[in-house]
Amino acid sequence: MADQVEKLNPSKLGTQEYWDNFYKLELSNFQENNADTGENWFSDSNAQEQMVRYLEDLAAEGDVINEESTSFIDLGTGNGQLLIGVREAGFQGHLTGIDYSEPSVEFARKVVVENEDWDPEDGTYDFRHADFLGSTAWNPDSHQWDVVMDKGTLDAIALANITYNHEGKSLTGVELYPFRVADMVKPNGIFLITSCNFTESELIKIIESDERLRYYDKVEYPTFEFGGVKGQTVCTVVFKKQ
Ligand SMILES: C[S@@+](CC[C@H](N)C(=O)[O-])C[C@H]1O[C@@H](n2cnc3c(N)ncnc32)[C@H](O)[C@@H]1O
Repeated sequence: MADQVEKLNPSKLGTQEYWDNFYKLELSNFQENNADTGENWFSDSNAQEQMVRYLEDLAAEGDVINEESTSFIDLGTGNGQLLIGVREAGFQGHLTGIDYSEPSVEFARKVVVENEDWDPEDGTYDFRHADFLGSTAWNPDSHQWDVVMDKGTLDAIALANITYNHEGKSLTGVELYPFRVADMVKPNGIFLITSCNFTESELIKIIESDERLRYYDKVEYPTFEFGGVKGQTVCTVVFKKQ
């Protein structure tokens, strides 16, 4: 599988230290000015809005997800904005955000407490410190959600220089990723991923290497043309758990 997908050169964006420093700074900016909720990845492409709109349309169709009880997890949640977008679109189910960077988890919690009037006791949002590829105190793959989402996290994982032991084999983060994700999606649930580093066909190759996840749909973005070559800045692909 992954030998057909271009391997990216490791970069600092693939290290936890980078994200810890990044979210420490975002948190301190937010503490000075709570209108500053930090970087919204792929906002040039309106990725968050496109993902949320897709989910709203899917809920309106009524067979796969619904507004009342569908549960969501956001992998590598950063500032938690994607989950806030899901809640603001009218989804009332349980929302979980995980990140391996503790400052990100603290930041996301503060944003929803201060800007969304969240009462941490009410069970609406659940922000957890967790590395879903490694082992952390709270292990997400022993739970399951109707909708699993990723915006930019596989992109960061692809820039890491780490290998993991999985069933006796040594795998890169990108190779391990589909197995971890498939464990977290409920049967008939969906996985929605937005990436800038991988094309739609590369994402399909990576994710379908776990046979429980199969291509379901994609989100349409406007394309641009330069020198006769058509391009797109990000892509969002949807998979369904068999
Ligand atoms: C490009 S940022 C995207 C953040 C957020 N999804 C957004 O769209 O604003 C990548 C995020 O993935 C997190 N991350 C990377 N590897 C992770 C892992 N193995 N487990 C949990 N979080 C991870 C980083 O800490 C960072 O918050």
